[in-house]
Amino acid sequence: MKKLNKAIDQAPSRDAFLQDVWNGLACPQQKTLPCKWLYDALGSRLFEAITVLDEYYPTRTETGLLGEIALEIAKMAGAHARIVELGSGAGIKVRLLLDALDHPSAYVAVDISESALSEATRSLATERPDLQILPVLADYTRPFALPRFEGRGNILGFFPGSTIGNFAPAQAIAFLTQLRRQLGRDALLLIGVDLKKDRAVLERAYDDALGVTAAFNLNLLARVNRELGGDFDLTRFRHKAIWNEAQGRIEMHLVSVAAQTVQVAGRHIEFRQDETIHTENSYKYGIDQFQRMAASAGWSARAAWTDAEDLFSLHLLQA
Ligand code: AVI
Repeated sequence: MKKLNKAIDQAPSRDAFLQDVWNGLACPQQKTLPCKWLYDALGSRLFEAITVLDEYYPTRTETGLLGEIALEIAKMAGAHARIVELGSGAGIKVRLLLDALDHPSAYVAVDISESALSEATRSLATERPDLQILPVLADYTRPFALPRFEGRGNILGFFPGSTIGNFAPAQAIAFLTQLRRQLGRDALLLIGVDLKKDRAVLERAYDDALGVTAAFNLNLLARVNRELGGDFDLTRFRHKAIWNEAQGRIEMHLVSVAAQTVQVAGRHIEFRQDETIHTENSYKYGIDQFQRMAASAGWSARAAWTDAEDLFSLHLLQA
């Protein structure tokens, strides 16, 4: 069997986590924690569990849509395409692309979770011994180096799941601009974008009956306790998800159910009763709205598809 390339390690440090926690929790108007820290080994597993919940429509809708249009994309990408996936996670969606593409020559998988990255790339390597697989352990929200990879086919960036929605619009434009420069001239980008819809559908998707999303959100505090020696009492915070219509985003918060003081690595943080930590935004975009945003990052629209119920969209962009 072909040897799997060792992951290139550009993982963020414990110090970076501590700085983000201290800075985010020091803000008197609105405490925040960046959503990228939700994805440690347990957080990644909880997210995988979210993706199979009845209420969480994005994953199954995008996967179904991708299955329908994969051959069309393969035609536009051409033979020997080289795929660069940002936030590769469990690597399920990319298999649909790999199956449809004409002799794809390389797959660069970038993820912030070491466990998710190694599990996914190891199993893909056994299934596809001819594919050049390059795992990169990195926080792709910050500039990171892409490995050199061989081949002459088109470069096809792949950013599914509507993870672009977890950036504020200005950051999303900055990220798409950085990605265009990284992927290079004429590269293609296939990107999944969740669409605006009914408040009830959206809020259910982010506050499911089983409480998996609540556990995913609360795990962030558990992670602070595990990795930074914090003393958050998880029973004194609860999960909240609300659709902010004016901003076009779902917001996830952790609500302090009582006035309390929490200690993290020697610093004390005061919470008022009902004060929240804002942990995630998930922006939803109309088709034109997203294409305008992509255009301001230097990408032109080649095609866009939606499912029959207009829940989710996939865009093919060209640098
Ligand atoms: C990864 N990201 C696109 C998910 C979303 O829908 O914004 C993260 C998530 N948060 C709660 N549920 C899922």
